[in-house]
Amino acid sequence: MSLIIAPSILSADACNLEKDICILEKSSITSIHIDVMDGNFVPNIAFGIDQIKALRKITNMELDVHLMVNDPDRYIERIIEAGASCITVHEEACDHLYKTITFIKSFGIKAGVALNPATNIDNLKYVYKLLNKVLIMTVEPGFGGQKFIPLMKEKINDTRQIKQLGKYDFQIQVDGGIDFDNIMEVVALGATDIVIGSSVFKDRTIENNIKKFYDLLDL
Ligand code: DX5
Ligand code: ZN
Repeated sequence: MSLIIAPSILSADACNLEKDICILEKSSITSIHIDVMDGNFVPNIAFGIDQIKALRKITNMELDVHLMVNDPDRYIERIIEAGASCITVHEEACDHLYKTITFIKSFGIKAGVALNPATNIDNLKYVYKLLNKVLIMTVEPGFGGQKFIPLMKEKINDTRQIKQLGKYDFQIQVDGGIDFDNIMEVVALGATDIVIGSSVFKDRTIENNIKKFYDLLDL
């Protein structure tokens, strides 16, 4: 399975998103990660449905929507209409996870489930087969620029083993605190879809930063 780097636009220039999207496209990025936060599931507010719609108008890249909201079912249909390519919900925010996953997939888009750092990967045991993506949060969700939690290495590795044993084909996505120093290790442990926020937009040298990540991964 090929590796994906998905920049999180939470760290992009909020006053000039279009400019940053163009830079990402020119840097061979094919998927952007959009963090939707409701100020409830997480103590922060970010990106709404109209912004996803506006982004869809200016790019053909995959829009990878990470829903950090309570009761995500309320928004799914409108987010799909807005142009999402993949929706990832939090296991902790869903009362009926199977129903939510199958609902997302019924629209023909990809579905993922995110796990907070302390949530057991085995909670997904009976839905692995349905998933396009398992998102392992490597920080507590809500903010960019936090430090990677080293204990999550074991969780990434466990997920890789589960995937191998069960021959599942979900992407193993990691999100939070990924930088030039730890990206190789998370990939070696099994991550296949790497969300990177602050380290992509760091110092506003976006093209160089992406090139450095691609070089590290031999992409
Ligand atoms: C955090 C978000 C992340 C965030 C990652 O809750 O889900 O997508 O933007 O940012 P960095 O890479 O700076 O940790
Ligand atoms: Zn995210």
